Amino acid sequence: MDFSGANSNLQQRMAASSAGINRRLAVLNALDIQIGQKILDIGCGGGHLLEEVALSVGPTGKSFGLDPSEAQITSAKDRCIQLKNVEFLCQGAEKINLPTNFFDSITSTQTLEYIENVDSVLVETKRLLKSGGKFVNVSVLWDHFKFHGPENELNTLIHDAFRAHCFHQMLPIEMKSKLQNLGFYNIKNKELAFLITERNNNSPAKFTEETIAKFALKEGVSEDKVLDWRNQLALAEEQGHFGFTSFPVLTEALL
Ligand SMILES: C[S@@+](CC[C@H](N)C(=O)[O-])C[C@H]1O[C@@H](n2cnc3c(N)ncnc32)[C@H](O)[C@@H]1O
Repeated sequence: MDFSGANSNLQQRMAASSAGINRRLAVLNALDIQIGQKILDIGCGGGHLLEEVALSVGPTGKSFGLDPSEAQITSAKDRCIQLKNVEFLCQGAEKINLPTNFFDSITSTQTLEYIENVDSVLVETKRLLKSGGKFVNVSVLWDHFKFHGPENELNTLIHDAFRAHCFHQMLPIEMKSKLQNLGFYNIKNKELAFLITERNNNSPAKFTEETIAKFALKEGVSEDKVLDWRNQLALAEEQGHFGFTSFPVLTEALL
């Protein structure tokens, strides 16, 4: 999926919503940040986590944000403009030109599932982490990501079209063996599943609906069908049987 232009804007509204905040709280908790640490966020998006990490590590530490999307990096720079201890890398995470054993912790949220060669990113993560360093990843179980309300056939058509938006539908299931094979230990999973029953303008369901609708059109679903799906979501909300469910999983591991 392309995270430039309007998509970058929608993604950042999602990051600022209750779903984004809850995920960041879980990540910050798992990172257990100490003053002076150097921490990398892979796929930093609009930089919400970078800002919080920079404040937590203090002036002797450093928060690094990596993202190949120029639109995302520009927004992240704007967000962190007051902070001197943030560094930006506008590139993919498959190969990173930084020294071995460089970071105290590396984290990533809803990004690894978008990277085709995710194994190369995990190898790079291992290389860049200090011994005793921590890796914290949040990825979504996309098979369990669903809007509820519209009639079944139409709903399935739209969700099936959205499957093409990322490479790895069920990454959290594979994460433990991938990390074990690289020598990580103490690998723990925590579910961050949620249900949303409102489509108001601040709701993550609304931003996600917009993203899926745009993606379905791009995949060749007709405008009529996409509009019908959105109308059925609105009607379901009115009638009190609308729902949006997602199942992100936080995986943490030590090296
Ligand atoms: C869904 S967004 C998540 C952004 C942020 N982590 C958050 O939670 O708000 C996914 C991000 O992954 C980035 N991305 C895509 N391919 C990448 C790659 N090869 N390496 C690093 N980041 C990548 C995108 O540009 C996008 O900003």
